[in-house]
Amino acid sequence: MSFWTRRKAIDTITAGHADSHQLKKTLSWPHLVALGVGAIVGTGIYTLTGVGAGLAGPGVILSFLIAGAVCACAALCYAELSTMIPASGSAYTYSYAAMGEPVAWFVGWSLILEYTLVCAAVAVGWSAHAHGLFKMIGFPDALLAGPHQGGLINLPAVFISMAVAGLLALGTRESATVNMVLVFVKIIALVVFVVLCLPAFNIAHFTPFMPNGFQAHVPEGAAGDAAKIGVMAAASLIFFAFYGFDAVSTAAEETKNPKRDLTIGIVGSMAACTAIYMIVAAVSIGASRTEIFSKSEAPLVFILESLNHGKIAQLVALAAVVALPTVILAFMYGQSRIFFVMARDGLLPRALSKVNAKTGTPVMMTLLTGVLSAVLSGLLSLKDIAELANAGTLWAFIAVGASVILLRLREPNRPRVFSTPFWQVVAPAGILGCLYLFVSLPAKTQLYFLYAHLIGAVIYLAYGMRKSVLAQQERA
Ligand code: ALA
Repeated sequence: MSFWTRRKAIDTITAGHADSHQLKKTLSWPHLVALGVGAIVGTGIYTLTGVGAGLAGPGVILSFLIAGAVCACAALCYAELSTMIPASGSAYTYSYAAMGEPVAWFVGWSLILEYTLVCAAVAVGWSAHAHGLFKMIGFPDALLAGPHQGGLINLPAVFISMAVAGLLALGTRESATVNMVLVFVKIIALVVFVVLCLPAFNIAHFTPFMPNGFQAHVPEGAAGDAAKIGVMAAASLIFFAFYGFDAVSTAAEETKNPKRDLTIGIVGSMAACTAIYMIVAAVSIGASRTEIFSKSEAPLVFILESLNHGKIAQLVALAAVVALPTVILAFMYGQSRIFFVMARDGLLPRALSKVNAKTGTPVMMTLLTGVLSAVLSGLLSLKDIAELANAGTLWAFIAVGASVILLRLREPNRPRVFSTPFWQVVAPAGILGCLYLFVSLPAKTQLYFLYAHLIGAVIYLAYGMRKSVLAQQERA
């Protein structure tokens, strides 16, 4: 079989592995819903709501709807595949079974890009909130901002990246429990925000609804590079706020009852977050004008302050500082597992996939992810990182939709604990939606995404193509 067509059999994927390459089963559905909500609610709603409102005006509510609808299609596809193939590796593993090794590599590389960049993006967002704290204990400005802001390095972002990696390396269950408490804090802060903003709700703030149109291009810079504005440009950014439910599927191998728990974990966390976001976005616009709160880096805190709830605004900011690391936690967890599974498949060096006998976690991979996130978050801007993270995620979602379609056609009788309703519509709609969002990203982001994949392709051709377990089996 040529490398183009070699695929993994689903039965082999789900059959289990030798002890040193098998993850411990410690999680059940409350952990997974918390992992999902922990991964979803973060920098997106706390920070990017403002940037999105700046691009789209009150029409940002449509951006939320579009991004949410695309993610809902993807979530349903994820639920079907993760219960049918309850193994670590998420979209990468499904693609390996459905579309073969090179596509799986492309998806795995996209996921590595996504997970590392999300950790880094949220670390930068966290740093912006914790800035005052670090200043108070005497950190000089040069160590509180990356080079793009005239500083040397964003040390708080480096700190939080490494702290979360350390926590994860100690063991999965401990981290999932901490995660659950912090998720609670994050949700309570949003509920308080909504309750305090409701009395100030003014429907007049919703007009003009789409001041920048649905999708528009404005010339930018000397090179005449066009920037995108409007509802779709905002949707392709706001998309960042919605994903994270996919991280739940990476926990499949560590889940006690994967069939039931994964369905509840993925669909439940996605549904809960979509409801919360729509309410928070509508209430924000109702309480303040988009052209005003879009200027703030912490729009929710800003709106509360403008309504004379200064003390509570500080508490909401504190909640963000305490709870945003749950997003890093969930993605770093997912990232170490993606790396782990790719290494186990021979596409990355196998020594990296060793599970520590004491903690039952891939310690080396977890720490490597922490270091990567620390370096990126220490040096780059939130916007650049988040947009590139979206590009990787969109392609992973496209692959998941395609895998659902292919496996339905190829193996229609394989038992499906969770079946995507109307898959003939939902899966293609998810794919087209993701393509549209990708096209709506800045051209610069699309180009960086291409470069990242050229590097990925070189690594695959030089290493994974020959070293992959399937390639070795073929030679034997
Ligand atoms: N959805 C996650 C966030 O908004 C990535 O932070």
